Amino acid sequence: MKRRFAATLLALLAGAALAAPALLASRGGVPPLAPLPPVPVPADNPMSAAKVELGRLLFFDPRLSGNGSTSCASCHVAQMGWTHHDPLAPGYPGHRLWRNNPTVLNAAHFRRLMWDGSLERLEVQARSAMQAPVEGNGKAGIVEMRLRLVPEYVDRFRDVFGTEWPQLEHAWQAIAAFERTLVSDPRRVPFDRFAGGDTKSLSAAAQRGYALFTGKAGCIACHHGALASDEQYHALGVPRQSLFDSSALVQIAVRWQNAQRDAPRALYRGGEEDLGRYYRTRDPADIGRFRTPSLRELRYTAPYMHNGVFATLQQVVDFFDRGGGDAPNKSPLLRPLGLTDGEKRDLVAFLESLSMDEPLVVEAPELPPMLPLVDIAPSASGATERVR
Ligand code: HEC
Ligand code: HEC
Repeated sequence: MKRRFAATLLALLAGAALAAPALLASRGGVPPLAPLPPVPVPADNPMSAAKVELGRLLFFDPRLSGNGSTSCASCHVAQMGWTHHDPLAPGYPGHRLWRNNPTVLNAAHFRRLMWDGSLERLEVQARSAMQAPVEGNGKAGIVEMRLRLVPEYVDRFRDVFGTEWPQLEHAWQAIAAFERTLVSDPRRVPFDRFAGGDTKSLSAAAQRGYALFTGKAGCIACHHGALASDEQYHALGVPRQSLFDSSALVQIAVRWQNAQRDAPRALYRGGEEDLGRYYRTRDPADIGRFRTPSLRELRYTAPYMHNGVFATLQQVVDFFDRGGGDAPNKSPLLRPLGLTDGEKRDLVAFLESLSMDEPLVVEAPELPPMLPLVDIAPSASGATERVR
């Protein structure tokens, strides 16, 4: 398994985007949909197969959380498209989260992360996920100590980072490196093969859907480029998630998030709203605006929208066909589309063609055991060392 994974990684790292497309349509001066380029890698966290393998172990390791119950993979489940089928993500035991879990697939391609664009780097995101009280609730000092009592981690961190003992900052780097391998492979995505010139890889329905997407339905205005996202923030008037009214745990999460972000009480008290992009900018025009999601891998990542309110792509398309929902600052780009039932089906067929033929699943690894230190001897510097 290990070797197969390393081979996939190398293929991905080497795998440049498919040939320059001649078939790609666009309008209004926006970039066309296109296969993803090679994943961007920051200069201060270069990739290596050993780092990615360490990151894979850590991604699945619940010992990074406060009570050892919750790993990244508890919420980003490989078999559920690296997201979670619950409309609102599950939380640390005793909690519930307030937003739908975005997939980790292709997250490495986004310039800003999260539904409101509140974070930039995968390294920082990993740390904040495992330390936030409602997600991982892991206290840094204790979690780092745990890693140091896993002999296999001591060896792996030394190999990859050259340190004597595992350091938590390096754990986030390794996890980020692993996430940079969780990207769509253009050779396995029907639309990307089509873009590379293989016209047979899209069904007639999907080709009609593509014409609607770039034409009558106007989706391309916001969903463009390789991610099918403008990486901007828009208010669509997505319907309210009923759990905001029926679940005390969700209401706690909403209030806590608002308090954390120092939101004016008048804006959420009683309403229990997720204010979206507003938290970053404090501009009232940004209330209820959320980041345009990528449309890649949707076959595997239901439910949809920042609050998981739509279970199927049909429901999403019906929503856009109605011209979106109600919001005082709703995007002027939304309007009733007058799609026929057949056109809606074509649009869904096209959306599905942006997903890989088979889901990208990475097996959960067997985690290395934590063992007591033996023969602890104080070193010259006063630090304790394990003598083997
Ligand atoms: C308790 C559930 C939970 C756990 C545990 C969790 N996440 Fe998440 N993750 C979420 C939710 C919910 C969001 C979206 C939050 C938001 O937008 O405010 C998210 C967002 C993300 C994103 C941003 C994706 C994007 O498109 O912007 C990445 C990347 C990510 N998580 C990776 C991780 C990693 C790595 C870990 C472990 C270190 C982790 N998550 C642990 C629930 C979880
Ligand atoms: C005004 C810009 C805009 C236009 C036009 C637009 N979208 Fe979106 N789309 C968004 C934003 C923003 C979201 C997330 C909204 C939220 O969660 O509040 C979204 C969400 C989605 C989702 C859910 C994805 C997920 O992972 O949750 C799908 C599917 C989608 N759009 C498809 C389409 C289709 C099909 C069209 C054309 C009929 C379209 N969009 C037109 C901006 C737009």
